[in-house]
Amino acid sequence: MNDKPIILKRPELRRYLVPINTAATQQLFTDCLIIGAGVAGLRAAIEAASRGCEVVLVCKRTLEDSNTWNAQGGIASVLGSDDTFASHIEDTLTTGCSINDRNTVEQVVKDGPELVRELLKWGAEFDKQKDGSIAITFEGGHSHARVAHALGDNTGKAIAQALLNKVRQFDNITIVENFYTIDLITNDEAGCIGVIGQNAKGAMEIIWAKTTILATGGAGRLYRETTNPEVATADGHAMAIRAGALMRDMEFMQFHPTTLYIAGASRALITETLRGEGAILRDINNYAFMADYHKDAELAPRDIASRAIHTQMLKTGATHVFLDIRHFDKEHFAKRFPLISEIVTSFDIDISKDLIPVRPSAHYMIGGVKTDMLARTNIANLLACGEVASTGLHGANRLGSNSLLEGLVFGRIAGRLAAEQGGRNGTSLKKFRCDIPKSDRSRLDTVDVLNSLRSLMWRNVGITRQEKPLAEAQEIISFWQRYVLDKVFDSPPGWECQNMLTVCQMMAKAAEARTESRGVHFRSDFPEENDIKFKTHIEFA
Ligand code: FUM
Repeated sequence: MNDKPIILKRPELRRYLVPINTAATQQLFTDCLIIGAGVAGLRAAIEAASRGCEVVLVCKRTLEDSNTWNAQGGIASVLGSDDTFASHIEDTLTTGCSINDRNTVEQVVKDGPELVRELLKWGAEFDKQKDGSIAITFEGGHSHARVAHALGDNTGKAIAQALLNKVRQFDNITIVENFYTIDLITNDEAGCIGVIGQNAKGAMEIIWAKTTILATGGAGRLYRETTNPEVATADGHAMAIRAGALMRDMEFMQFHPTTLYIAGASRALITETLRGEGAILRDINNYAFMADYHKDAELAPRDIASRAIHTQMLKTGATHVFLDIRHFDKEHFAKRFPLISEIVTSFDIDISKDLIPVRPSAHYMIGGVKTDMLARTNIANLLACGEVASTGLHGANRLGSNSLLEGLVFGRIAGRLAAEQGGRNGTSLKKFRCDIPKSDRSRLDTVDVLNSLRSLMWRNVGITRQEKPLAEAQEIISFWQRYVLDKVFDSPPGWECQNMLTVCQMMAKAAEARTESRGVHFRSDFPEENDIKFKTHIEFA
């Protein structure tokens, strides 16, 4: 990889979304503040607390509202007797199209088995083989079976519950649900010193902390079609941008190939492990097309599978393709995939007779806050881990089931560093006031803007991209920004709209700048990789 990144100019934004006045705001103090209750945030909390650090962990809604909780397929790790670290490393690098950070890949892969076994010890109900060892399966891009799963296809929930049970054993962890973090508070001397947010009672609150760990998760809700829960609105990305964090790989949004497509129903993930265990993709003419696109057919990496489905939908003029699992044993299916079994049954799909309508949708944000091997960002005392971070693990395309693992590995690293950074020592700004002038522009309906924004992202910054639509997307977003970013809102929908506009603009800009195709980023006007110019990252500085 070329070590020199391509640098784009970061947007000029108002520093804070809301006015801040310490004299009129309630305040809380802690050693370590963790924002987000997915796998990375929970693992960070456990590590920091076990080393004596006082931790406050806040989450936007309830503990169950996270991408972690919804993860189906599993967690990738070298657990099989014929598997090796070298093979997992190689698969991650190959899928990532040569721009992964090799040191990060090695660290995550090598820490994997220990961290998965630790989860087992903490009560995660991983499915087992007859001999008592952890059951492992295949997903696209993996050359060995190495995806561990729990409670069938409820892996994320099982992992989150085990981590939460562990978290609850610590008196020095305080969990605060329904806390909407609005902005990171920074100053030149100390870097990040805390956050301002709105608590469950609707009151503004400042939390001062010696170390802040950003573990806010993903951004799937920037797209009309997504597997992500409502909370995944890129708030963490946006607040980091406003605070001056270096952002990287913003053009890389991963699309999951198979999301249940029933017009009018919310999109549900249909796990890739189904294909790992024999499901076949067919177009509306019943044609099994995947072998036309990749030698591994149904087990092709995600980017290829998503584009193949997209192309086949265009060729046949259909809104979807089908997953065929009619050959599966129905009883085994219900046990192995209880969540999907429940979902399809609720739509009267009988898997022994009917095909399952699916299509791709936005799934995982590869881009985020640039971090180093210790989860540090360029802002002092601000660490980041999980989906909001860009650790370099995934390169231009994430290998399925590597992200829960990444969250565990870098959550632990971040928690350890937070504990080492020590106590709060009076970290706070005794007096701080930041006012925002009133806007004299008209108000737009933010619900309307958001619906249009998500459709625009799907159409113009989606699976297949091209110069003109990308430029057009930026123009339209700029227009909305002029009327939305200058306002002061007093509740999450307004702040979310501001955050989403900010992040979408950077995604479109980065996608326009990468005039090649690599991993999840496909430019129909530049369909090949261009190693001479682009075997590197794009950063906003
Ligand atoms: O298909 C899946 O179960 C998704 C796994 C992942 O995103 O890692």
